[in-house]
Amino acid sequence: MTTYRSAWQQALYGPGGFYRRERPAAHFRTSVHASELFGQAIARLARQVGADQVTDIGAGSGELGRVLRAEGLKVLDIELDDELPDQLTGLVVANEWLDNIPCELAEWDEDGVPRYLTAELTPGDVVEGNDLAWLQQWWSGEPGDRAEIGLARDNAWADVVKRLQHGTALAIDYGHVADDRPPYGTLTGFRAGRECEPVLDGSCDITAHVALDSLGGEVHNQRDMLMQLGVSAKRPPLELASTDSAAYLAALSAAGEAAELLDPSGLGGFGWVFSHRS
Ligand SMILES: C[S@@+](CC[C@H](N)C(=O)[O-])C[C@H]1O[C@@H](n2cnc3c(N)ncnc32)[C@H](O)[C@@H]1O
Repeated sequence: MTTYRSAWQQALYGPGGFYRRERPAAHFRTSVHASELFGQAIARLARQVGADQVTDIGAGSGELGRVLRAEGLKVLDIELDDELPDQLTGLVVANEWLDNIPCELAEWDEDGVPRYLTAELTPGDVVEGNDLAWLQQWWSGEPGDRAEIGLARDNAWADVVKRLQHGTALAIDYGHVADDRPPYGTLTGFRAGRECEPVLDGSCDITAHVALDSLGGEVHNQRDMLMQLGVSAKRPPLELASTDSAAYLAALSAAGEAAELLDPSGLGGFGWVFSHRS
């Protein structure tokens, strides 16, 4: 039986896979693409945690790194086929990386037994071993419900955190915690800026939300964290328009970008999961 996860892995990262060819910015918009205010806030976070180096895992086209370097930080971009150093220090960031790590999908059958979904999204073998233990700890369901088993994401993140000698690791992603698991899962595709059917032929991005609480760090939301880091969507005072119209327009545009980053039903609702090592 080919599980959905292995077909998903091939579709994104196998020969001819989506991420072997495509640039993320051409298909979807992350916080990094939405505004440089995001990177500037990450730079302030780096300073707060005493880091002068940032490692950006799943760096895409390196847009975040460009902003961080302009803020005076050293940046190591890690993309597919780059080797993650054995030892990491400073701030390690992974923005929208974990949702692209293929995970097993499971559906509870009419007897309440969770079964892996196949590449055709049909029920297959009974879920067992560590995947079953993960479901028992993190995601319960009724007959007909679907779960996205977070173990592959947990393992990928644990592999990052274990390399951290001293510093902070921060995973930023859309996701859920135990109280609000989506009963039918969140699997979806993106192509050319639009949501689409998740087709397993390498023609689109395929993503599922991340179980944030099982990653093992402190979970916060982007809106709160960015506001604490000084991002504000407050409009500039109207008087500025008559005294310095260029400054007024720039401040208005920054407020619009900040509003997108802080939107509780959009990017602002993303989880920020922190692990620290001192
Ligand atoms: C959704 S994109 C996010 C890009 C960027 N962080 C941003 O916020 O715009 C996910 C990126 O993770 C990369 N990626 C996936 N698996 C990876 C791995 N094992 N190591 C490094 N990068 C990986 C993909 O190639 C892709 O560029």
